[in-house]
Amino acid sequence: MAAIAWPTKTRELHNHHFDSTVWNDFRFRDDDVVIATYAKSGTTWTQQIVGQLIFGGAEDVAIAEMSPWLDLRVPPAAVKYEALEAQAHRRFIKTHLPVDALRYSPAAKYIYIVRDGRDVVWSMYNHHANANALWYQVLNDTPGRVGPPIEPPTGDIRQYFLDWLDRDGHPFWSFWDNVRSWWDIRALPNLLLVHYADLKRDLPGSMRQIAAFLDIAIDEDRFPAQVEHCTFAWMKANAARSAPLGGVFWDGGAEVFIHKGTNGRWTDALTADDIRRYEETALARLGAEGAAWLANG
Ligand code: A3P
Repeated sequence: MAAIAWPTKTRELHNHHFDSTVWNDFRFRDDDVVIATYAKSGTTWTQQIVGQLIFGGAEDVAIAEMSPWLDLRVPPAAVKYEALEAQAHRRFIKTHLPVDALRYSPAAKYIYIVRDGRDVVWSMYNHHANANALWYQVLNDTPGRVGPPIEPPTGDIRQYFLDWLDRDGHPFWSFWDNVRSWWDIRALPNLLLVHYADLKRDLPGSMRQIAAFLDIAIDEDRFPAQVEHCTFAWMKANAARSAPLGGVFWDGGAEVFIHKGTNGRWTDALTADDIRRYEETALARLGAEGAAWLANG
């Protein structure tokens, strides 16, 4: 592989959700942790894991407030900067930006979580179709937003998937761009790529790997509680602690967000042709190695 150049921010991305320019003025600390995903890929789960590792298994780590989505348009950047400046503990910040729209610190650590695009869409549909008026208001009425308003999904979940596939992330942002950008820099020593399916397959092992990457020593006495607090069952039972704003964007509350935590729910809904088209797109956009990594076969 060719030498990996440290990526610099090469483009600004603005849409209804986010504005990448917020990173331009961000003052990194050397031990910052950036948790990046396309979305619906295990962001919150990884925030919970990192929070549990930093705070030694405490039950009340309020990750949603503590670990803001910096590029999200709300609350305004100044509010998030101030809150992050005031944090005396190790900071962990969430982003959904591709590499080339994100500012880099060579000293910070980046964790990128990837999930099969079909599982992402199944999760996204639940998130979107069940969102309440407040969610639409925040996304559609925020000053400076770009793009057509987000509307409730009209078709069934298969149609939602096909629109997403055919229109490159519609009605949100490009999946392939995002995944590709992180895959391309996988050789960087301060980046750890994590697959959602691996978190599911071996949560304690994945947590140990993440701890090692972050230079956090595991306290074996506390580790069982740390792992327990990152299981789906615990996070579902305590969903209001981890879902964005305690789940106010769903009438069903935070349990709508911490939804099923399973993969492959698309197998009965997609046709063989749909699956073939998805796999061909993965191959074209990521190459054979990248597509295999994403499929996590
Ligand atoms: P589902 O909608 O498929 O259930 P994000 O935080 O990136 O928005 O991702 C949300 C997805 O992660 C949801 O997937 C949610 O249920 C899942 N998730 C959250 N915590 C989890 C856990 N402890 N184990 C497995 N999946 C989890």
